[in-house]
Amino acid sequence: MLKTRFENYPKGKQFSAILGDLLGRGIFNVDGEPWMFQRKMASLELGKISIRSYAFEVVNSEIKTRLVPLMLSLSDGKGDNNLLDLQDVFRRFSFDSICRFSFGLDPKCLELSLPMSEFAVSFDRASNISAERAMTSSPWIWKVKRILKLGSERQLKRRHHDDQCPGPRAGRDTVASALTSLFWLLSRHPEVELAILAEVDRVVGANQELTSFEQMQELHYLEATVYENMRLYPPIQFDSKFCLDDDFLSDGTFVKRGTRVTYHPYAMGRMEEIWGPDCLKFKPERWLRDGVFFQENPFKYPVFQAGLRVCLGKEMALVKLKTVALSLLRRFHIKLAVPDDQGLQFSPGLTATLRGGLPVLIQERKDQKPIVLVHTDNTQL
Ligand code: HEM
Repeated sequence: MLKTRFENYPKGKQFSAILGDLLGRGIFNVDGEPWMFQRKMASLELGKISIRSYAFEVVNSEIKTRLVPLMLSLSDGKGDNNLLDLQDVFRRFSFDSICRFSFGLDPKCLELSLPMSEFAVSFDRASNISAERAMTSSPWIWKVKRILKLGSERQLKRRHHDDQCPGPRAGRDTVASALTSLFWLLSRHPEVELAILAEVDRVVGANQELTSFEQMQELHYLEATVYENMRLYPPIQFDSKFCLDDDFLSDGTFVKRGTRVTYHPYAMGRMEEIWGPDCLKFKPERWLRDGVFFQENPFKYPVFQAGLRVCLGKEMALVKLKTVALSLLRRFHIKLAVPDDQGLQFSPGLTATLRGGLPVLIQERKDQKPIVLVHTDNTQL
């Protein structure tokens, strides 16, 4: 579906209808010529060194001026209520950075005293309604609701921002989702957290800042951890296409035209045939060969999709994830404030979101390390 017969599996009209009110005719929601054109434009934009430098400048300034001060204000018993919903913080963080990056606007969502901006709240609501559409048994149910302007469909306002820019949905929810599951996993695997910290001390120096992307690329164990996190908890758990003409899958399964076909990274990450008998284990080492990160076949790990329509923001997302993770891990102890014996429970939505958020307690490290500051004039990616 993603590899040899890509043309036969477009997103299709049904997907376009489900997400049309949310995404307009943006890159996520079109096929054929319009998609090819938008992809070319988006990859030119996202590929520019200047754009990447700007993105990292924004992320680093968000970390330094908002994220760290916010965590500090809640650490070690400061403030009235020290419980922090890390998922909410990551969503606000990602939303602020993506808006500053894409539109030059600063919605200041990370100032926790402020409510989520209206734009962010309506974006969330619209995305949930679109997911509800995808799950209704028959497309007629939501279509009729829309025509009659009933219930959730009445609330779904047409959105335009994504027509011009793949920013918000692409970058915000997915990165926030990956960060949330990463911190949940690390709280259950202190040995992995220690190995990440030991690696960064070794590569950068115990009291030194990380100053270049070359150094970031030497952090093989961190890279492996980020990949392993998304193997078990992919931010986009599944993604569907529609079969254009009758087809046979490589295992001989017949697919009738018009059938919705789904690839499911969440399920694939849990398959013994793909990852072996320890597939359910969180084990960053599986991505290392002699200590060096080894990239798996993207069709085995379609977390960013694979093939012609692979995610355009993958590299940017990875550096963002690693930068935030290191900045927080080097400066704070983050402890789960809920029993850690339960698995994760997700709410319905286009990207994986934890039901009930991720409540944590923050403690500043005594053996504090400098926060990560990447100097953007050294951009290599
Ligand atoms: C961990 C973070 C991310 C994950 C897991 C992820 C995953 C994905 C997946 C699965 C798709 C295919 C979705 C579909 O076709 O419906 C996709 C497409 C895309 N992503 Fe990402 N993404 C992430 C972050 C980002 C970021 C930060 C950006 C941009 C700054 C971005 C830009 C895009 C674009 C433009 C596409 C559409 C490509 C096309 O249709 O040709 N993504 N991503």
